Amino acid sequence: MKILVTYWSQTGNTKKVAEAIFNALPETKFLKPFNEVQSLEGYDLIFIGFPVMQFGPHPEAKKFLSGHAVGRKIALFVTHAMLSGGENPKQEIMLKRELDKCRAACSGSELLGLFHCQGELSENAANELMASNIPMLMEFAKMLPLTIGHPDQSDLDKAKVFTGTVITAFLTHG
Ligand SMILES: Cc1cc2nc3c(=O)[nH]c(=O)nc-3n(C[C@H](O)[C@H](O)[C@H](O)COP(=O)(O)O)c2cc1C
Repeated sequence: MKILVTYWSQTGNTKKVAEAIFNALPETKFLKPFNEVQSLEGYDLIFIGFPVMQFGPHPEAKKFLSGHAVGRKIALFVTHAMLSGGENPKQEIMLKRELDKCRAACSGSELLGLFHCQGELSENAANELMASNIPMLMEFAKMLPLTIGHPDQSDLDKAKVFTGTVITAFLTHG
């Protein structure tokens, strides 16, 4: 079984999750950012990671998924600023919509699973969000303190469990 973990990451959060997934995989495995992937030919299973940006998958992710992933067995890992643990019901609903958009971007692929966790908003990212003048994005900027430290060890441990679940699904249905 030949497995690729590939990702797009602006500030390093999604990359951290990519490394945790990669470390939890059995051989034979490869870890590459999107820009080092020419084709998915020859890989049996591909883990694809990216952040949520402006309420949906990052544009680079949409391009990668539609350009390379159609007809492939894939699993997604996604980072975001939104809270997902029931602390904020409004954000939970919005997050659900964002994740649905991530799933929709995989149409034509065989999606074996989706992992998501919070990713820390960098100071620069928060400034970028404030400058957007989009009220909901400006709201995110204020969330910076609630995102600090993510993905944390608990998030990475969950990513490891997710990896095992995907491998089991692949071996069972593959
Ligand atoms: C311009 C911009 C837009 C963002 N939009 C959203 C969003 O709509 N929803 C959300 O939950 N997080 C949003 N975020 C937060 C990022 O998804 C989060 O910080 C992510 O972990 C960044 O991943 P990276 O470090 O791999 O680049 C946004 C961040 C930036 C900079």
